[in-house]
This record gives sequence, C-alpha cells and structure tokens, in this order.
Amino acid sequence: MKGIILAGGTGSRLFPLTRVASKQLQPVYDKPMVYYPLTTLVEGGVREFCLITTPQDLPRFRQLLGNGAGWGLSIEYREQPRPEGIAQAFLIGESFIGEDPVALILGDNVFYGADSFQRAFAEFQSGATIFGYHVNDPQRYGVVEFDSQGRAISIEEKPKAPKSNYAVPGLYLYDNQVLSITKNLKPSRRGELEITDVNVEYLRRGQLHVSSLSRGFAWLDAGTSSSLHEASAYVQTIEKRAGIKIGCPEEAAFRRGHLSLQKLEALTDEMPDCEYREYLKGVIEEAKRLGK
Ligand code: TTP
Repeated sequence: MKGIILAGGTGSRLFPLTRVASKQLQPVYDKPMVYYPLTTLVEGGVREFCLITTPQDLPRFRQLLGNGAGWGLSIEYREQPRPEGIAQAFLIGESFIGEDPVALILGDNVFYGADSFQRAFAEFQSGATIFGYHVNDPQRYGVVEFDSQGRAISIEEKPKAPKSNYAVPGLYLYDNQVLSITKNLKPSRRGELEITDVNVEYLRRGQLHVSSLSRGFAWLDAGTSSSLHEASAYVQTIEKRAGIKIGCPEEAAFRRGHLSLQKLEALTDEMPDCEYREYLKGVIEEAKRLGK
C-alpha cells in the first residue's frame, strides 16, 4: 500500500507560528509534527510515500526528510498550491498511486496506540476503511452514524446537529477506486473536494468499513495553539512515564525490518548529542541484547 501525507493548508489558526514554517513542521514536544503521521504509516507497513505540501514549504520538508532512503523508505514530493480540499491529494498524487491502494494521513494528526491501525492495515483488501473516534465536539469533523449492529449508515461533514459523537480522524485507507471516485467529485460549497464525499460514495457502494477506535486510543489534533500545547504535553507525559518515544520514524522503520541494525547504528552515530540519539542508542542496545 502506498502512503500520502497531506501537509499543505494555511495553518491560519496557528498564526504567527506559521508565518515562516508550516504547521506540520512545528514541534510536538521533541519532534516535528510530521514525524508522527509518518511513523503511523510506517508502523502500518507503508514504505513508499508521497508528501504533498505548498510550494513554499516543500523545500523545508525535503530538507527534513530527504528521499527517505536513509530510513529504508522512499519519499516523493508534490505541490498543492492552494488548499482545495483533502480529496485533491488523490488527483495530485495520481501518478504516484498508480494502480495500488493508498493510505492518506493528515500531517497534523497525532495518534497513539497503533494496534487498531495495524490490524486495519493488515486486514485491508478492498473498498475503504476509515475510523470512528468518540469526541466531545463532533461538529468540527466528519461525523459517522452507526446502526444497532455497529454498521455505518451516514457520514456528514461538520454537521450543525451531529447524529453521533463519532468523528472520523485523518487516516483513510482506500483501494484504487478512490481515483475515479475523486475525479467525479464536485467541489463543495466551501470550494473544496471533500474527503467526506469520497467516504459517502464508498458507503453508497456498500464498500465502506468503519472501525471504531477503542477508549484507550489517543487521537490528538494539533491545529490550534491550545491543542498543539496539549499534544506536546501528552507526548511528554507518555514518553517520560513509559521510556518510549511516540513518532520516531527511525525506530518504526527498524522494527518493520526496513532498516538494519547496522544502518540504524550508523545514522544514530551521526546525530548530535541529544535525547533523541540517547533513545535510539537504547533501542539498539536492547536489540543487541535480544539478539535481533
Ligand atoms: P485544516 O485544519 O482544515 O486546515 P489548515 O491546516 O489550513 O488550518 P487552519 O484552519 O488553521 O488555516 O486542515 C487539516 C489538515 O489537512 C492540515 O494538516 C492541512 C491539510 N490540508 C491540506 O494539506 N490541503 C487542503 O486542501 C486541506 C483542506 C487541508
């Protein structure tokens, strides 16, 4: 499965932070925000990526992530000059997707507790898989309604009167039909190609699977100053308590077998003296101890 990271947009709610660097390059505690969605997809088994961002920000993402080869991945880049909708990512990334299925993740979504995702990636065969997550303020998101058997029966974008508290987070898995579906979409009243309209079309075809995320799962949206601060605090709390890192692509690539122990060691040695390096040294030590 191919992976698209959508990291454009204006980030207006984070002004003035976003005056010189885009939202997805801002720190969430100890790493740039884009590390988190990238890691989520690597943990799901994705190895080939396309990162879509604005023409101004693209060079900085390239400087940060390169072509991915150092991590055993491949990363291509495409421009989205204007934020004309999340679903536009499929039109921009068409040649990258080719004939494959694709996972789309939003560059400002931070997830913790990846087990439910890993199962969804492993079990994905066709149609679409999206997720439902219980939130306090569903009217800000796409909202999914379930029947008594837990099957999705409606999805609405930012409804004034939400039919449930289940919001759809920014990770979506699609088969290749997503290309033709998106080509037939009309922009919404706000002038965007809506991801909710893609999901509604899969629902109409009887090919939408909605998996509800359990209570122990965290979905953090880092789009406002408060939520960015809360996401940082959350990551710091978990990392400090558990002695692990959330959103560490090097570790995820190593655990998935894309990066050998020798390569991980070599790239860790090149890092300056910092907590991130110390952490990876610990991962290496443990792997050696366990004979991996
Ligand atoms: P939003 O939070 O809706 O938009 P934004 O990032 O421009 O922020 P603001 O409202 O503060 O101006 O977008 C959610 C994510 O999707 C975010 O990571 C940006 C990305 N996005 C694009 O890259 N292109 C698009 O066309 C849209 C609509 C969103």
